[in-house]
Amino acid sequence: MHVPVAIIGAGPSGSLLAWILRQRGIESIVFENRSRAYVEGRIRAGVMEKNAVDLMIRAGVGERLQKESMYQRGVEVGINNTHHFIDFEKLIGVGVTVYGQSEVTKDLLGALDSVGHNVLYETPVTGVSDHHGDKITVTYEEGGVEKTLTADFVVGADGYHGASRKSLPEGGIRMHEKTYPLGWLGIMVKAPQSKPVAFFTYHDRGFALLSMRSPEIQRLYLQVANDENLEEWSDDRIWDELDARMGTEGWELIRGEIFQKDLAPLRSFFCEEQRYGRMFLAGDAAHIVPPTGAKGLNSAFADISVLSAGLIQHYTKDDSSILDQYSRLAVERNVQTQRFSWANTAKYHIFPGTNSFERRMQQAELEYLVTDETAQISYAKQHTGLPFAYWPEL
Ligand code: FAD
Ligand code: DHB
Repeated sequence: MHVPVAIIGAGPSGSLLAWILRQRGIESIVFENRSRAYVEGRIRAGVMEKNAVDLMIRAGVGERLQKESMYQRGVEVGINNTHHFIDFEKLIGVGVTVYGQSEVTKDLLGALDSVGHNVLYETPVTGVSDHHGDKITVTYEEGGVEKTLTADFVVGADGYHGASRKSLPEGGIRMHEKTYPLGWLGIMVKAPQSKPVAFFTYHDRGFALLSMRSPEIQRLYLQVANDENLEEWSDDRIWDELDARMGTEGWELIRGEIFQKDLAPLRSFFCEEQRYGRMFLAGDAAHIVPPTGAKGLNSAFADISVLSAGLIQHYTKDDSSILDQYSRLAVERNVQTQRFSWANTAKYHIFPGTNSFERRMQQAELEYLVTDETAQISYAKQHTGLPFAYWPEL
């Protein structure tokens, strides 16, 4: 079998790409390791940049997003129990949108299902070969049987642990990585909103974040060690620690039923090239950021905007000029997003071994941010998202 585009992974990157290509009549097949229910149930990102929202709307899968999402005009910053609001809307005219990644995947996989698109669930790709040949080969396992197909292009949208990057020869693509001695303990809570916007807290005890998924569901995080034992965190201990880091005179965090606890170690990773022969890398397969700033999902959509524009131009106009620039354009944007996420992580977290001078300087940097309008404009532009280099013609 031969297909124009073989997509590995039905997460946000792969499912959005398959959907956009289909809108322009470009055939693809999607391989997904897990079941549909598993992909749709994964609790991950929750904040979308305006461009990511617009891409969903332009692609015709933004109806529920427009109805059910929550718009936030800025963020609040806490510095050792004092609170400061940064009004992105007033500064640059753009805010951010809260809509869970699980809802994004439900909308995309539902749309693909409604048109009978070829998404092979529980079908892991085990290898990619002939990257530089006339056609590229995908090896996969269907019902315990190993099979192959060929494609004009493969898109590796299979996340950080996927098969696409593993298929590269040593040194085929340059990569950069940083691990942090930090993790985020995350909880999902049934409770009303304690604040109308997300609340990022610097505190001598460690970073904390209040975010949300809907008016009734709150998402909270605490900085912990990257090898923290979740068993040691009872509900009461979590709430007391959140209060200690976030509380202030006249404001109290509203508690509720904790219905999920998870732990995410922090990591930065990116590829210096997002193309190898006939294989393109997109989303987490090409880059991972620490979550401070909510850039993972948004960077994935920025990649897909340019890649889909390039593939559409290639197939409908016999012109590969955008496709040939994909790697450079994606990396140019991603390296800036890496810098923002890394700098934001450094700003807010207490790193093991730092002394009082370093902590006071961190605090001074945040004090500058919450009082200087020029610093706020620069921050707002990065937090609300850098431009997409190309948009697909839909
Ligand atoms: P993924 O969502 O990882 O999708 C890849 C898909 O490929 C998966 O469905 C996987 O099952 C499939 N796959 C893997 N290997 C194979 C194979 N061999 N064959 C076939 N299929 C395969 N971002 C934020 O902005 N905010 C957050 O709060 C946040 N929290 C996160 C928490 C965790 C625990 C993780 C892991 C990520 C988090 N992120 C967050 C990042 C964000 O969720 C990702 O950036 C986003 O999911 C990227 O989408 P993707 O489609 O590129 O990759
Ligand atoms: C979430 C929100 C954020 O603003 C962020 O930086 C990281 C995660 C969230 O809602 O999960």
